[in-house]
Amino acid sequence: MYAKFHSIGAFVPSKILSNEDLEKMVDTSDEWILKRTGIKERRIADDDEVTSDMATKASNIAIKRAGLNKEDIDLIVCATVTPDYFNMPSTACVVADKIGIKNVQAFDISAACSGFVYALSVAKAFIESGMKKHVLIIGAEKFSSIVDYTDRATCILFGDGAGAAVISATDNKDEAIIDVHASADGSYADFLVTPAPGSVHPVSQKVIDEGLNFVQMKGNETFKLAVKTLTKDVKDILAENNIESKDIPHFVPHQANYRIIKAVGDALKMTEEQVVVTVGKYGNTSAASIPMAINDIYESGRLKRGELMLLDTFGGGLTWASALLPFAGDSFKE
Ligand SMILES: CC(C)(COP(=O)(O)OP(=O)(O)OC[C@H]1O[C@@H](n2cnc3c(N)ncnc32)[C@H](O)[C@@H]1OP(=O)(O)O)[C@@H](O)C(=O)NCCC(=O)NCCS
Repeated sequence: MYAKFHSIGAFVPSKILSNEDLEKMVDTSDEWILKRTGIKERRIADDDEVTSDMATKASNIAIKRAGLNKEDIDLIVCATVTPDYFNMPSTACVVADKIGIKNVQAFDISAACSGFVYALSVAKAFIESGMKKHVLIIGAEKFSSIVDYTDRATCILFGDGAGAAVISATDNKDEAIIDVHASADGSYADFLVTPAPGSVHPVSQKVIDEGLNFVQMKGNETFKLAVKTLTKDVKDILAENNIESKDIPHFVPHQANYRIIKAVGDALKMTEEQVVVTVGKYGNTSAASIPMAINDIYESGRLKRGELMLLDTFGGGLTWASALLPFAGDSFKE
């Protein structure tokens, strides 16, 4: 039994936070943000719009596009670092209830920006082992809930959104996911961290006073390691599967910073047409970044059945992951 990437869906909040808006909030400029990151604007969820709401909307689209009923889903894996609750119930359980699926295995995984590709590796393993037939994988973030909007080093980068995909069993090797790599190095844990709440810093006055509930980042160090690790990881997965970068129509890298995307794309000798770039309009949406980017090329008619995608991501942990797979759904026609 093989696993195939059966469908894609995404939800993007309507509220836009532009660089001009940020100029009024912190000491920054549209010019600085564009030049250093390629980001022009990002989406921010409403106060009463939580991670599971965005995840549910993306999931319902993905299930419909797979031509399935919600009852066909036998596993839900939600990747997020901004869950509805720290830490129970899992966001996957809340999503199952909001979609209206009873008696389904559901759990979250925490791998920051690498979460969606980590979830893909879990879905592939469950299906290849014969345990599940249709796995709903989600990357969803309300990152604005952990961003300090007085910290110019981080608040310019992140946005909210959700993406989801159905991974289904197939006996047709031609449409199967070819390979998924996923790895981590915890010695770099302090590069990207939300110190609280957790067992290290339970909620206290100190947490509030010191803003320990907000994301902290060593931006420059993360940047350098991201370029190095991502480049090596994609070169490895291509070489191991005897595929050349010129044969990949859609390189979908994590959307953190255009300069990182460009450096990795150049190292792989990819053309502009091959590299998918959405960071300018969504910023970094962490686990939602890759499925939102896939949905973008799908809905614009660029992604067709059978075409190869190379996914590549990097995030807090530190974690990183890549995947090589054909798109195995119907072409967009809504
Ligand atoms: C955050 C990032 C854009 C900063 O760009 P950079 O070129 O590394 O900039 P630096 O951090 O070296 O800062 C350079 C200067 O700009 C200033 N600066 C930082 N943020 C600024 C902002 N929003 N507006 C204006 N100036 C800013 C710094 O204070 C520093 O000033 P100084 O030279 O007077 O000390 C970049 O490091 C980055 O994208 N890193 C990776 C982050 C990432 O991808 N994280 C998620 C991984 S999943």
